[in-house]
Amino acid sequence: MPVRPYRSARSLRLGVNIDHVATIRNARGGLVPDPLRAAHIAAAAGADGITAHLREDRRHISDHDIVRLSRDIDLPLNLEMAATDEMLDIALRHRPHAACIVPERREERTTEGGLDVAGQHNHLARFVSALSAATVRVSLFIEPDARQVDAAVALGAPVVELHTGRYCDVQGAARVAELERLRVAAQRAADAGLEVHAGHGLTYDTVRDVAAIPVIRELNIGHFLIGEAIFVGLEASIRRMRTLMDEARPEADMDPASGASA
Ligand code: PXP
Repeated sequence: MPVRPYRSARSLRLGVNIDHVATIRNARGGLVPDPLRAAHIAAAAGADGITAHLREDRRHISDHDIVRLSRDIDLPLNLEMAATDEMLDIALRHRPHAACIVPERREERTTEGGLDVAGQHNHLARFVSALSAATVRVSLFIEPDARQVDAAVALGAPVVELHTGRYCDVQGAARVAELERLRVAAQRAADAGLEVHAGHGLTYDTVRDVAAIPVIRELNIGHFLIGEAIFVGLEASIRRMRTLMDEARPEADMDPASGASA
């Protein structure tokens, strides 16, 4: 797998999750709509990376999608995966730019909570070290919680992705409190030297405040963008999201080193 550096030096990258293009394809079987085509459109619309979750039950992205995404797109691929031996073998075969380890339960509709890094240190350590040894940048998808951040630091993963699902689901004072939880956890992780990402459930309404947290370097967004694409087209939905992110993170915050390093 060739090394694909990030194209821009933006301080906040957008990873576009294309899983739900595959969900629609799989509703009928067959080949359309094609997640690879979505990845090309995302690249043209300003995405910095492509994210895809190969689930144990293959309900959306397939093994063949991963082969094609690894081979045919010229953006870094972030493979979301459960900590299982099967997924580890696949990740080591394709060596994506990044692997985000997520919890997975068959009965859930989407990734419903963060990884219990604190409770699963011994299980996860093997995955972090095998992927890192293969130069795959490991990210752990966790709740914005000090205990989980500290456990991720102890595991030696270079990146955490903070779960924004709860922040997006609640309103009013509860949302303000969830945003504060995200801010505190992001700062704690950054202070410990981790790169901080965030994602899950983000929309045009919820993205701004998260994008404005200065230590967050990447947002991974999927379901809303694919849904909005039904009405405005995929390129337009991604461009609008990119604009909102840029407005929340003015150019003055740009870190010229960011594109090169991560
Ligand atoms: N980040 C992670 C780790 C995820 O598991 C998902 C969902 O696959 C996302 C981001 C994107 O979430 P959404 O599709 O709700 O934007």
